[in-house]
Amino acid sequence: MNRQSLIIDCDPGVDDAVALMLAFGAGEFELLAVTAVGGNVPVEKTARNARMLRQIAGRGDVPVFAGADRPLRREPAGAGEFHGAEGLGDLTPFEPDAPCTEGHAVDAIVERVMARPEGSVAMAVMGPLTNLALALRREPALAARLGPVAVMGGARSEGGNITASAEFNIWADPDAAAEVLASGCDVVLFGLDATHQVRATEGRIATLEGLGTAKADTAASMMRFSQRIEREIVGWDAPPVHDPCPVAWLLRPGLFELASCRIQVETESELTRGHTAVEFREEMGGGLPHRWATSADADGVFALIAEKCA
Ligand code: BDR
Ligand code: CA
Repeated sequence: MNRQSLIIDCDPGVDDAVALMLAFGAGEFELLAVTAVGGNVPVEKTARNARMLRQIAGRGDVPVFAGADRPLRREPAGAGEFHGAEGLGDLTPFEPDAPCTEGHAVDAIVERVMARPEGSVAMAVMGPLTNLALALRREPALAARLGPVAVMGGARSEGGNITASAEFNIWADPDAAAEVLASGCDVVLFGLDATHQVRATEGRIATLEGLGTAKADTAASMMRFSQRIEREIVGWDAPPVHDPCPVAWLLRPGLFELASCRIQVETESELTRGHTAVEFREEMGGGLPHRWATSADADGVFALIAEKCA
């Protein structure tokens, strides 16, 4: 099998954890690194959580690197209310057997991508885009060297989740998102328009619980936590499971509909900070260098998660 080389940049996070279980179980990927960024919880915790999840999944072969502890020019914000104080819901934290690999996540991204043929390394980014923005500052040639950069982030028709107009990952570091989008990278954005269609219904969680593997149990426990929290905070019975979407697209592109577009991020207004302005009209100029996910096949995404966690 010709495997897709992949770097996963994340801030686990309950839905990041589901995405990692999906990726760890997918033999289609050559996982070059998991890089952690401060986001849902501080980077010390997201890096530890990534190592915990790697151990649970039995993937000690995948290096984990710690990255940026703060956004480019904002104060760090968290989303502990949606992920729990430690980031992984009800999962009790433990000190994993293996440490992070020495070195900074930004260097790991640059070195791994630049050492490979052009277009051959994809990235799945599911936290604030700080690590990738810093990597592009360090090595601008990275943009042309990278394959697809599949990002969970952005708000348009659905409105926002952290503010009325912004989605958390873009809002947390809007400057990084703006730099990545302007860099020339082949960015595919999975915003709330698509991820709000991918919901952990009772039946979908129960299917995972029935599999009886460590990966499936972990993914299901993340969804149970979200189910409880989203009921309390937002009043939803079936919580959206955002972060597996970019990973699922890399495995099965047919599960999503995408539209070519040009995406810009609001970086100045406090009211609409982090809003993604998505232009689909070519005649407006500037080209359509990005892609925006307009819909998702939720049954297909959950079937894929179950397949790879089995
Ligand atoms: C995104 O924000 C984070 O809280 C989640 O992990 C996900 O990446 C959803 O808006
Ligand atoms: Ca995340």
